Amino acid sequence: MTQEHYEPAAHYDRVTEAWGLLLGDELHWGVFETGDEPLDVATAELTTRMIAASQLSPGLRVLDVGCGSGTPARRIATEHGVEVLGITTSAVGVEAATQESARLGVDTVSFEQRDGTANGLPDASFDRAWVLESSHLMPDRRALISECARVLRPGGRIALCDIIRRREIGFAELKERRHEFAVLRSAYGAARMDSLEIYSGLMADAGLVVDEVVDITRETLPTLDRWRATAAEHRDAVIGLIGQESLDTFEESLDILQAFWQDGTLGYGLISASKPA
Ligand SMILES: C[S@@+](CC[C@H](N)C(=O)[O-])C[C@H]1O[C@@H](n2cnc3c(N)ncnc32)[C@H](O)[C@@H]1O
Repeated sequence: MTQEHYEPAAHYDRVTEAWGLLLGDELHWGVFETGDEPLDVATAELTTRMIAASQLSPGLRVLDVGCGSGTPARRIATEHGVEVLGITTSAVGVEAATQESARLGVDTVSFEQRDGTANGLPDASFDRAWVLESSHLMPDRRALISECARVLRPGGRIALCDIIRRREIGFAELKERRHEFAVLRSAYGAARMDSLEIYSGLMADAGLVVDEVVDITRETLPTLDRWRATAAEHRDAVIGLIGQESLDTFEESLDILQAFWQDGTLGYGLISASKPA
């Protein structure tokens, strides 16, 4: 794999279609309340948690940063009457999201190729910033949060959920577990995980008032078993799209993530904040 495949846009251009088979329509982890739910119910539950944290109401304008194929954007537009601009650095993602929205006749969403860390959108032009499992792909986390804060109107809100780091990882451990980190990098692209405390600090630094910080590591763990099942179910199609080696890497990454989830190294969190009126 060449270096460019680790860069998020190139990575997502390459994997978007296969990810749809492995992860489902919503390209993110699931929240399992009973542990027995199908994957799509659990991924929808994570979106439901984001909706609650966002306090959506009809007519609000939402910026979806890292919009994937647009499934969460279409859901919030159709169920909550908001208008959504989804942005992603992946041209393939913009194309897929735009086509699917046209096919479904959802005309209150639009998608543009933009970088969440320098979005180029006007100040105070959105009521909500929605960052669903994309922040770990943006190395300049401070720029992401300050861009979200900048485009929010006074009184607006941000909701963000993502993979988090739950403890310090020292240099010796990084070295010792370098194979595991290399597999994750190969499977998911260049990523860096931060703690919920770091996210809270960045939001406070950007003038936002944090009101909810939740660790949902335990509820997200069953996602890995579901991804094992989708990998087995769609084996041939996925190999056709990204090749045998990438599927093997994806499957190996599931065992690594399971160990990290269970030993308290990584997990999943959700955080929301408001911009003072
Ligand atoms: C795990 S997917 C999540 C997609 C979507 N939020 C969902 O939940 O279905 C991560 C998304 O972040 C996007 N992304 C990565 N880096 C980005 C950046 N710097 N700016 C905007 N989007 C980015 C990827 O292209 C991809 O669409």
